Amino acid sequence: MKGIVLAGGKATRLYPATKAVCKQLLPVYDKPMIYYPLSVLMLAGIKEILIISTPAALPHFKDLLGDGALLGLDISYAEQAEPRGIAESLLIAEKFIGKADVCLILGDNIFYGDGLSGLLKEAARQKEGATIFGYNVKDPGRYGVIEFDKKKKILSIHEKPREPKSNYVVTGIYFYDNSVVKIAKALKPSGRGELEITSVNNEYLKKGKLKIKLLGRGYAWLDMGTCDSLVEASIFIKTMQERQGLMIGCIEEVAYRMGYIDKERLKELSKSIDTGYGEYLKNI
Ligand code: DAU
Repeated sequence: MKGIVLAGGKATRLYPATKAVCKQLLPVYDKPMIYYPLSVLMLAGIKEILIISTPAALPHFKDLLGDGALLGLDISYAEQAEPRGIAESLLIAEKFIGKADVCLILGDNIFYGDGLSGLLKEAARQKEGATIFGYNVKDPGRYGVIEFDKKKKILSIHEKPREPKSNYVVTGIYFYDNSVVKIAKALKPSGRGELEITSVNNEYLKKGKLKIKLLGRGYAWLDMGTCDSLVEASIFIKTMQERQGLMIGCIEEVAYRMGYIDKERLKELSKSIDTGYGEYLKNI
């Protein structure tokens, strides 16, 4: 399975913080935002990754992550000229996807919780169809909202509805089989002019091929679209890391624990970082 991190968009709700710097490069406590979704793909066992962002921001992502070889990854890059919808990433990535299955993750999403990597690996093993993850939130109207019947079977997903049918929303990680490219190609822009990922998911649902896993109370899912949510995410990361002495979204650690790099490489990487982060890598 291959992976895509979608890290573009205009992030106007974070202006002026994002006027010159792409949102997904902003720090969330002690590391760039993209480390969090990138580490999630790595935990799912995915090593071939495409980062999609704006033409202006792509060189900065390349400076940060290069071709991924130092982490045992194969990272490539593609431009999205304008934010024409999350599902457009699947069209941009058509050649990259080739005949593979794919996991798409939004570059401003943080996932955290015990057992998460097991859930991700299981989804990555799927042979057919799509797997998405649902999460209970207080303000569902801002998201793709899941409508269930009485037996908790999904009836439909509604994008940013005025009257949400439940508090369960679709999080920003999606596992698809290879037919997703064909589905994305058939999409028409929605009322707000975007190729909606919710339309892709509803298409799988119509075919009876959409699996949804609900992330319960033990999981944290955060997305960062506003200044408040950015600060809240930073506080969450700082609180958890300081309490446990374990880092969240530390891509070098994940690369080592997943067996993508060896001890020598980890040691080498730790030498170039002269902060508590580097110290943490040394201690591993
Ligand atoms: O976070 C989960 C939600 O993500 C889902 O529940 C919704 O169904 C889904 O539509 C999406 O909603 P958002 O309102 O969060 O999408 P937003 O337009 O904010 O885009 C999410 C991220 O993707 C954001 O960091 C910018 C990036 N993006 C977005 C679009 C539309 C791109 O890079 N390119 C794009 O064309």
